[in-house]
Amino acid sequence: MTIPKSHTALEKRLIEHIAKYGPVTFESFMNVVLYDNDQGYYPTRRRASGSKPVGTDGDYFTSPITHPAFGGLLALQLREMWQILDSPSEFTVVEMGAGDGTLRSDILEYVQRQLPDFAQAIRYIATDLVPPTNVNNVNDNSCLPVNVVGCIISNELLDAYPFNRFIVQNGVVKEIFVDYQNGEFVDSVSNVSEPEIAARVDPFLRSLPEGYRGEVNLRLGYWSDSVSAALRRGYVITVDYGYDRPDLYESSRGEGSMRCYYQHTLSQDPLRRIGKQDITSHVDFTAVDHTLMVNRINRVGRLSQRQFLLNLGIEDFLHDITVRALTKELSRSQSQENFTGIEALIDLQGLGKFRVVVHSKNVDDVHRITGVTGCKSLVEGRTAPILNNSEATHARLLRSSNPFGQDNAELTNGMTWEQLFCDDSSNIAN
Ligand SMILES: C[S@@+](CC[C@H](N)C(=O)[O-])C[C@H]1O[C@@H](n2cnc3c(N)ncnc32)[C@H](O)[C@@H]1O
Repeated sequence: MTIPKSHTALEKRLIEHIAKYGPVTFESFMNVVLYDNDQGYYPTRRRASGSKPVGTDGDYFTSPITHPAFGGLLALQLREMWQILDSPSEFTVVEMGAGDGTLRSDILEYVQRQLPDFAQAIRYIATDLVPPTNVNNVNDNSCLPVNVVGCIISNELLDAYPFNRFIVQNGVVKEIFVDYQNGEFVDSVSNVSEPEIAARVDPFLRSLPEGYRGEVNLRLGYWSDSVSAALRRGYVITVDYGYDRPDLYESSRGEGSMRCYYQHTLSQDPLRRIGKQDITSHVDFTAVDHTLMVNRINRVGRLSQRQFLLNLGIEDFLHDITVRALTKELSRSQSQENFTGIEALIDLQGLGKFRVVVHSKNVDDVHRITGVTGCKSLVEGRTAPILNNSEATHARLLRSSNPFGQDNAELTNGMTWEQLFCDDSSNIAN
């Protein structure tokens, strides 16, 4: 077979593999195009100088990149957890999928500045499958510790795990593979490669229309096993977007929840821009609970990111910024940038609708976790962390009508970010 010269080295390798072994599962395809060490999206984006997957110059925003108030409030939640565990001399925070380490820096900076008692005890280990080459405080996954007393934390890790895709055909769950035909990558449908894929969807099959497409993530079990192996006693805080299984496999979500991000625009076509765009899907939070529960890690609470941050006292941060603007400690533009960033964290059209799930292991669950239960603000008059000047441009991007950047009609089929990402998937163009 002659491969057209226009294909990249990564595409050529995929084409040769498919020619030799046949169509590949979407999970294998995604694993290669996102994480292949030489040509995958994350390793190449992290190696290129000045190029990051996340942030103003990248392809999408995450909460830590949006405003350091996210890290500040998590620092307060972690300190309360440390106190519940009777303030051990060492409280270890393990962050999985830490990316460029922004959340680590924000949490540690807030602890150093505002929480001196906790600063003596906190030890922070940030890990990632693809640690950035220019940052030395994020380690690779081989550095995951064991016997941790503390908290395992992740933000937008699970949505980045490779998944299998399925389609309902003649009332049966079939799998969508990736094939190469007539000079292009195409979907190809066949029997499921793993019985578990059909087993996850079968309970909902009667209500799903013909042609319904969706995703099954079989890798959450690996994540749960890693969490369990690391944690002896303490908590797990998982922040991501997704649903319980009955809402995930809902008839109106006919095109599934797969999303591709490229320079702050969205599409649903993973077979374009191979190795150059991020690919994600909504998290199956039923699987998160189940896989942790079999490891004796039980759910303490689950709520929206908006409610979690409100419970911790994010409004007191907004109040603090108002006061500092009135006393001219912050300029008008600084206070506006910070307001925009903080409000984006609780915006129900965006990051505010993400889920925060708290689980615990070997902890007496009668303790109240303020992020889950509310009742008092943990901010208690402490000052808000603020964006440094170099970060101010991204708040401007957040403030535009499309919170994640400029529209690109070609990629989004003319849909806005809200239409593509909203719960009613009938808005999504085929
Ligand atoms: C969407 S980014 C989120 C980065 C960061 N947590 C943030 O909020 O900005 C997902 C991250 O998960 C990492 N990742 C993917 N699979 C992983 C795995 N199995 N173990 C650890 N990190 C992983 C990716 O390399 C990437 O840095």
